Amino acid sequence: MKTARGSLTILTDNTVPERSNAIAEHGFSAFLETGEGNFLFDTGKGKTVVHNAAILKKDLAGINKIVLSHAHGDHTGGLPDVLPAVSAKQVDVFAHPDIFADRFREKNDQRTYGGIPFIKGYLEKMGARFVFNNEYREIEEGVFLTGEVPRETSFEGGDMGNRYVIREGKVEPDVILDDQSLVIHVEKGILIVLGCAHAGIVNVINHAIKMSGVDEIYGIIGGTHIGLSGDAQRDKTIEALKNYKIEHLIPAHCTGAEAMCLMRNAFGNIFQFSHVGMTFHF
Ligand SMILES: [Fe+2]
Ligand SMILES: [Fe+2]
Repeated sequence: MKTARGSLTILTDNTVPERSNAIAEHGFSAFLETGEGNFLFDTGKGKTVVHNAAILKKDLAGINKIVLSHAHGDHTGGLPDVLPAVSAKQVDVFAHPDIFADRFREKNDQRTYGGIPFIKGYLEKMGARFVFNNEYREIEEGVFLTGEVPRETSFEGGDMGNRYVIREGKVEPDVILDDQSLVIHVEKGILIVLGCAHAGIVNVINHAIKMSGVDEIYGIIGGTHIGLSGDAQRDKTIEALKNYKIEHLIPAHCTGAEAMCLMRNAFGNIFQFSHVGMTFHF
């Protein structure tokens, strides 16, 4: 397997270092630079990605693709800002087909829209050329998308209790099948880049190891959702992560401050606090 070399810079995250001119918001986006060009993984909620790319000198004009981890607005909200910034007339946007599923959240009998906040045609008009996948697939040499991740662990239920999807007029619980992550073959193993890890971070790792055939995890970066999935899932996830060979653990976004502190205590120097502007070399 040919490996990829390059870097990942966080453009959108929930935190920003003091005195930085970049800004934070609840969301995630990362700018990847590889031998085959540059691309964007997620686009944040919309207020940060273009601004921060300029501050961090990451040229959105030259990207050759966009990868969307899942439909949620804190990962897709920046699309109408990013698409016009791309020089090419059209740009491939990789995603699971459920990205356009009709979904909602229900709280105290109030329904709020829970899907991607734009219709497909609007994004296509701005240059998006959607490339859908359900399965594990290579998107450039050494860089893969997980496709749907099998839900196998007993403790990773997520915070899905109040999320629903409407399919052919029928309301079903939404397990966020569209949630997928990047798996990059690097010199020292694999690098896993998460959006929100709604599938469960341990499920994602198991799937990545199975599909790549590599069990050395050079890095894990991105949203783990364990700050929003209850204490039991959080604690069991931290315990389970100790069973893997992980060199760099950089949870971001929906991990939350409390879970990050627990992980710092559990993993010591393997762990790093994420923030907008952080660059990870691979
Ligand atoms: Fe998120
Ligand atoms: Fe999400």
